[in-house]
Amino acid sequence: MTTPPPTPSASAPGRRALLTGASSGIGAALALELGRRGVSLWLGARRLDRLATLVDEIQAAGGKAKAMTLDVVDAAACARAVVAVDEDAGGLDIVIANAGVGGKSPSLWDIDVDDAVATIGTNFTGALATILPLLPRMRARGRGQIVGISSLAADLAQPGAPVYGATKAAFSFFLDSIAPELAAAGIDVTIVHPGFVKSEMTGKNKFDMPFLVETKDAARLIADAIDARRAWLRFPWQLSTTMSLANLVPRGLRASIVLRQLKANATRA
Ligand SMILES: NC(=O)c1ccc[n+]([C@@H]2O[C@H](COP(=O)([O-])OP(=O)(O)OC[C@H]3O[C@@H](n4cnc5c(N)ncnc54)[C@H](OP(=O)(O)O)[C@@H]3O)[C@@H](O)[C@H]2O)c1
Repeated sequence: MTTPPPTPSASAPGRRALLTGASSGIGAALALELGRRGVSLWLGARRLDRLATLVDEIQAAGGKAKAMTLDVVDAAACARAVVAVDEDAGGLDIVIANAGVGGKSPSLWDIDVDDAVATIGTNFTGALATILPLLPRMRARGRGQIVGISSLAADLAQPGAPVYGATKAAFSFFLDSIAPELAAAGIDVTIVHPGFVKSEMTGKNKFDMPFLVETKDAARLIADAIDARRAWLRFPWQLSTTMSLANLVPRGLRASIVLRQLKANATRA
């Protein structure tokens, strides 16, 4: 009896991936990590100069990468661009929807509608515009992997950045909803919920960020999850566990703790 060949991992050499939001932070670190693991990369973001430098770095380390200007907020243009990448790649194996913005993260009473719409446009609509056009193509090939960089913010409703949290919860809910049908079509889904990771986005934060993760470490964890075709990755475990426990606290008690915390913060400010 012959032994069947092992199934290649998603980021095994020769695999082709599209990664959005690669010009900084988690995306740039993930591009370097996947490039080192032999994945051929198509990198998208608005700052092409940053991507060009990253491509040079990946190629200098022996990897393969191409850069392209991409604004995921322009859904129609984004859809056309990802299909063009799929053609250029001869069929993508992995699409990683990572592009995201934190928004201005104001307090509740200062939320600006335009900023809220822009945050939704990048984090939710933009992610769908990246993924949806590729699904029929992956289905026709009977293989593929969708990776969504969501957030631990999706795991617990809390004040601070309610619009940002809602965009990430919507994205994770969407991916979780379509995962069974995609699996039946041979397409894996990996949903990633990072906690606080060092990046341009978190560099702006003025508050304490518990269990802050180095960008390189985050990239390694995400690349491992892609390799293993894991359905979910939440990290760091300390913050993820804290959020799971907080969800067990009765709503009324949670509300009073949150209000007391907000009052204490306002007094300190
Ligand atoms: N850092 C954290 O603690 C943390 C935690 C949980 C989840 N996340 C998520 O991780 C992802 C990466 O964030 P990060 O922390 O690495 O922040 P970052 O350094 O600010 O990176 C965000 C990336 O998204 C790109 N981007 C933003 N708007 C875009 C648009 N309209 N079209 C295309 N690309 C766009 C940016 O590139 P351009 O400006 O060049 O377009 C940049 O490459 C985001 O989805 C974020 O929500 C981050």
